[in-house]
Amino acid sequence: MQTVHRTPAVALTSRQLGEIDCDLLVVPVFEDDDLVDVPDLVGATGGELGRARESGEIRGKASEVFVTTAAARPKARRVAIVGAGEKKACTADTLRRVAITGGLSARQRRLTRVAIVFRPVSKISNEHAAQVMAEGAIMANFDGASYKTTEPPRVWLDSVEVRIEGASELNAALERGRIIGECTNLARELANEPGNELTPRIFADRAVEFARTAGLTIDVLDEQRIEELKMGLLLGVARGSQEPPRLLVMRHEPANADQGVTLGLVGKGVTFDTGGISIKPAENMDKMKDDMSGGAAVIAAMTAIARLGAPVRCIGVVPMTENMPGGRAIKPGDILTSAEGKTVEVLNTDAEGRLILGDALWYARQLGVTHLVDLATLTGACVVALGKTTTGLFGTPSEWVEQIRLASDRAGDRSWPMPVFADYMEQLKSEIADMTNTGGRAAGAITGALFVKEFAGDLPWVHMDIAGTAWAEEPKPYQPKGATGVGVRTLVELALAAPSWSKLDFSEKS
Ligand code: BES
Ligand code: MN
Ligand code: ZN
Repeated sequence: MQTVHRTPAVALTSRQLGEIDCDLLVVPVFEDDDLVDVPDLVGATGGELGRARESGEIRGKASEVFVTTAAARPKARRVAIVGAGEKKACTADTLRRVAITGGLSARQRRLTRVAIVFRPVSKISNEHAAQVMAEGAIMANFDGASYKTTEPPRVWLDSVEVRIEGASELNAALERGRIIGECTNLARELANEPGNELTPRIFADRAVEFARTAGLTIDVLDEQRIEELKMGLLLGVARGSQEPPRLLVMRHEPANADQGVTLGLVGKGVTFDTGGISIKPAENMDKMKDDMSGGAAVIAAMTAIARLGAPVRCIGVVPMTENMPGGRAIKPGDILTSAEGKTVEVLNTDAEGRLILGDALWYARQLGVTHLVDLATLTGACVVALGKTTTGLFGTPSEWVEQIRLASDRAGDRSWPMPVFADYMEQLKSEIADMTNTGGRAAGAITGALFVKEFAGDLPWVHMDIAGTAWAEEPKPYQPKGATGVGVRTLVELALAAPSWSKLDFSEKS
């Protein structure tokens, strides 16, 4: 495989636009823009900006890109005007997308030294702007996996400068953005890998590499240890495959952390989901190589959390397996016993994610976590409900769900709460076991979540269904087709925000 991402040198500058020496100067322009804060911009483009605005070639619509053919006065070789939409609707995520769009445009033109300009917007602090623009610039230096042997070498950004007032005070924010951007790319790289290149054993090896560089403690449980722990749900799913399962445990235990709080992050790591004996149709089955996106997000987020020294103890748990229809595979109607002792009647072997999460959530509780978040490409039903842009949030109590929603908002990972009323449990009733693993077509994303909830004990718990958001079917100016890295930035923001939620009382389950 060819390298799919590379981290450019990133720096801050407060120099005037005309003084920035680069190949491409990226400037956001709004729909209703007076340009008063960038007086030298119009001249800097030799009048081209003004003419293009007059003719309607530049309207400032989100993601529109206009590159000037020659810049007269500035040291920049070219100026890219990137549409940022309405000014009053501009969020930190708009800035992140402008940075990605600008960075990708530079690479398409084989330009490698980029500067991105921050134009003050109300409600976005310089600090947050520096962070998200660094994130975006780094996310622009990413391509999907390629196994083509005849492709010309890729062009990568060598350096990125973020132009912002008060640069000297913003280095910590820039560094935060650099690490978060890099770790988002790690998750995207893993999720793009084909199933034969990323088996459970290889997935675990990759995580060990990341952990070593980030200074995380890591433990990889093999099939023997998983058996000793009697994880019948994980073992049940793994039975149909020649590849043995793994259970990964990553720990971040900083000295300065509150001893009473441990954030548990659990990610679904199905490296390929055929559906098992309840086999999926052939069409689009190839997409199921991304069924470990939740696990990849947890591994990448833990890596970032360690590198950033987030002030909270975190434990990441990722159950890894294939879901295959082998001769020893579980069959519809089989009964499995979870490590916790609960019995499950497997009515559909394609509802495997909730099974492996059940044992993993239980294990996270055994390790002493106090707050739980799980991420999984769990249900097609969630894609029907919320589409490809929004992650479903399920959990209890609602105050804890709100913490995750706020973190996802800061991260630019759109998410929205869904109900987990106990009434839905009716749909999981089994005649012969504690519950079934499928609740029928109605409210499929909710019954999936409720199954997982059975293994969260009394802890505050949130389940993020990323089935729709983990993979981009259509390329966008700010997102190449393929893995999105959804969830990584949300989990990092949540861990960084621990001082603001660790003292809250979430004991009252709703
Ligand atoms: N990995 C799939 C969910 C999925 C579907 C992710 C489409 C991304 C796109 C999951 O394991 C699955 O197969 N879920 C079943 C559950 C059903 C059998 C209750 C589904 O959604 O059909
Ligand atoms: Mn499945
Ligand atoms: Zn699956």
